[in-house]
Amino acid sequence: MHNPQLNNHGELQHLLTIEGLPRAVITHILDTASSFVSISDREVKKVPLMRGKSVFNLFFENSTRTRTTFEIASKRLSADVINLNIAASSTSKGESLLDTIDNLAAMHADMFVVRHAQSGAPYLIAKHLIDTKQPHVHVVNAGDGRHAHPTQGLLDMYTIRHYKKDFSNLRVAIVGDILHSRVARSDIHAMTTLGVPEIRAIGPRTLLPGGLEQLGVRVFTDINEGLKDVDVIIMLRLQNERMTGALLPSAQEFFKSYGLTPERLALARPDAIVMHPGPMNRGVEIDSAVADGAQAVILPQVTFGIAVRMAVMSILAGN
Ligand code: CP
Repeated sequence: MHNPQLNNHGELQHLLTIEGLPRAVITHILDTASSFVSISDREVKKVPLMRGKSVFNLFFENSTRTRTTFEIASKRLSADVINLNIAASSTSKGESLLDTIDNLAAMHADMFVVRHAQSGAPYLIAKHLIDTKQPHVHVVNAGDGRHAHPTQGLLDMYTIRHYKKDFSNLRVAIVGDILHSRVARSDIHAMTTLGVPEIRAIGPRTLLPGGLEQLGVRVFTDINEGLKDVDVIIMLRLQNERMTGALLPSAQEFFKSYGLTPERLALARPDAIVMHPGPMNRGVEIDSAVADGAQAVILPQVTFGIAVRMAVMSILAGN
């Protein structure tokens, strides 16, 4: 399908994926986010950049961090935010996704923030808005199936840049269930575009997708080898909801072979940071001593997510 996220002038029209997004656009989003970070320290945590605009949060799949930080970001930009309760909506009576969109667009929606279990659902909505000549309505992908989670990828890049300053001399390891992870895919595309020289994927064969080497990623099935001298570790949750067969003996076995313990963390560089998009499963992919330890930047990731989502929305709204 044609990628409709950039308009004819190369400007961001929708944010659907990081794949193919020019480096200048990614850097502009990160720089704009920097200017929003300090807003949370002010007494009045609001700017009027989206005053009068209506943002609809459409979460067809559960979320804690993404939905809430999009809501906070919308409010800090002075937008009106509507959280559609999907379980109580007419979707449960058989209304199609695009009929729901048409009805919300008729309520003068300016932006849809969409999470969906089906890969491609935000594309479908964006294409429909283009086909029905509604270019003033923007779509932000808040995670679609195992395909993409672009704002998580961007907030991960913001976090790495914050702590490491420069992408050009980093070794970054992504550990765990890469096969089912939209975060891993978005992170890999973002890091490749931003010039990270060494990206490693660590996991059991059953949870590593094909084609990683073609993306320039080094693959390791031995975590002790893969973590050696890395600057950044991105841990991933086992996405049990997306597994269709028995890909692992048990969660305990997984922790024994791939869990991030203090001993394994010591194989990385002494100043390595530990990231996790959440939700975390302690004792499955990460030991509590690491999750709560001095090298973890998991909660700062969540905080940076507000500024990054403000940046994405304000840029889409034309600021
Ligand atoms: N990282 C992330 O997408 O978390 P939620 O599922 O809580 O939004």
